Amino acid sequence: MVEIAPSMLGANFGEMKRDAELVAPHSAYLHMDVMDGHFVPNITMGPDLVKSLRGIGKLDVHLMVTDPSNFINDFSDAGADIISVHVEANNPQKAIELIKKQNIKAGIALNPSTPASAIEPFVDSIDMILVMSVEPGYCGQSFNENTIQRVKKYRKKYPEKIIEVDGGVGPGNAAILAEAGANLLVAGSAIFGSPDPIEVILDMKKG
Ligand code: DX5
Ligand code: ZN
Repeated sequence: MVEIAPSMLGANFGEMKRDAELVAPHSAYLHMDVMDGHFVPNITMGPDLVKSLRGIGKLDVHLMVTDPSNFINDFSDAGADIISVHVEANNPQKAIELIKKQNIKAGIALNPSTPASAIEPFVDSIDMILVMSVEPGYCGQSFNENTIQRVKKYRKKYPEKIIEVDGGVGPGNAAILAEAGANLLVAGSAIFGSPDPIEVILDMKKG
């Protein structure tokens, strides 16, 4: 079964709470993309915005920041249920330890251009592998097809992990990703760019 995590980066920032309340009943998590203008060129949201959605749905915080260890406690206090850090960031192991200390789920994220083996040193200490299917930074980019093979390999090697796929995901590729072994799909523009976000979520969940 595949679950959906709408990327709130694709929502209307002036109506974030309304958009979260609309999608949350049909979604496993609300996916929160945190960018620091350094790890990626964009700046997006901080702990206060995450906190404003606390209680509406479970919160899946994706840190695209250079020094994730500096922010774990802030996002945990804001109500994160999962925090993912990038393998390309500084000292992912330290950040993962800080996440586990907070008794929440930890994820390791990797970019499409990063070798799949880069996550190996961290896999024993995490709950989720966040497979990026675009280079991180922005909503609305196109899906990197190599992701499907990457997900298949990870699923075979790590049968117990949550495998989340993020970037360019929507009704057109949800089924093939679910079949490859993904169990959590992030979608921003596919959901919030649609006149009927719920229909898109239900369609993607069919897997
Ligand atoms: C990209 C972010 C994604 C993005 C997804 O850096 O991590 O979560 O918001 O948006 P779509 O689904 O539009 O690619
Ligand atoms: Zn993301």
